[in-house]
Amino acid sequence: MPVPLLDLTRQYAPLHGDIQEAIGRVCTSQRFILGAEVEAFEREAAAALGVRHAIGMSSGTDALLVALMALGVGSGDEVVVPTFTFFATAGVVSRLGARPVFVDVDPVDYCIDPGQLAARLGPRTKAVMPVHLFGQSADLGAIRDACGAVPVLEDCAQSWGASFAGTLVGGIGVMGAFSFFPSKNLGCFGDGGMVTTHDDELARLLKELRVHGQSGVYLHPRIGGNFRLDALQAAILRVKLPHVAAWVEGRRANARRYAQLFHDAGLDEIVGLPAAVPGRGHTFNQYVVRVPRRDELRASLAERGIGQAVYYPLPLHLQPCFAELGYREGDLPVAEQASREVLALPVFPELTLAELEEVVAAIAEFYGSEG
Ligand SMILES: Cc1ncc(COP(=O)(O)O)c(C=O)c1O
Repeated sequence: MPVPLLDLTRQYAPLHGDIQEAIGRVCTSQRFILGAEVEAFEREAAAALGVRHAIGMSSGTDALLVALMALGVGSGDEVVVPTFTFFATAGVVSRLGARPVFVDVDPVDYCIDPGQLAARLGPRTKAVMPVHLFGQSADLGAIRDACGAVPVLEDCAQSWGASFAGTLVGGIGVMGAFSFFPSKNLGCFGDGGMVTTHDDELARLLKELRVHGQSGVYLHPRIGGNFRLDALQAAILRVKLPHVAAWVEGRRANARRYAQLFHDAGLDEIVGLPAAVPGRGHTFNQYVVRVPRRDELRASLAERGIGQAVYYPLPLHLQPCFAELGYREGDLPVAEQASREVLALPVFPELTLAELEEVVAAIAEFYGSEG
């Protein structure tokens, strides 16, 4: 039986009527740019996350970019980022003319290693950007302690609903950046994103920056861009928002089932399960295991029609576009090793038990016959 890595049609089916209605409402209004739908979504999202402000953006990448712009990041500045993450986390730093300073990750949660931060902070450090990777919060307590007065910008793209010590991510650092890419815990029907903050002045600035830095009618105190969330996406997100908590619970339930199934299959010694660190509210946007002979296993699963993916096969400090920064293989060894061993398995909430069993049976068969 084939098992997809992600099948969004199963999430859409029960929401079809409500989403068509929401799209119809926007079409009837012919109000597509910002306006009432975006404002309503921003209010509802802020309430759901427990933040003062939520500001819709055109993508998660743009949310990160605009947040850095709001902090005044520019040429000559440094921004500290984990090396094991999606490209956008560091790409936005370089796009502003600043330098990404890469830090290795913790081998348990794959998030930035707080113990290595102090050595990377310097007079040019303008921000630190922890990524809540795979759906789990980074160790924000230790990170904030290490950062002192340096602003912490949370990359929450993969982690809507994750928490640290009881507070939802996006409401802990100076700002949080979210992505509504369709595969995220809360996904829209295209590109979308959002910045959260408790700070009124930053919120005002973010709203200006997403409209070309405009403070009044055709008045531009600073340069921004077109970084707006559109009304159709906002209307769709409003339909989905009330369901996110249940979807996250579904992901957690699947993670628990996997743990039991891997154990029952006698794979405890072979398959390294993702660690749900206490107090971090893991949401399992991705279910990432560590395995020996990863690429062979991957090929074998692909042959059986079982979805899988590698996040991420090459840490950012070794990406060709960052060669001029001077990093070498071996510099950030935890991430380098993880990039050779990690494998993401299907975990979306609508998976059936039979599908989870199929994934585990295929993995058990691979190690049983070849191991
Ligand atoms: C950690 C992380 N940061 C940033 C982004 C960028 O978000 P988007 O694809 O919406 O631009 C993503 C999206 O995949 C991500 O996973």
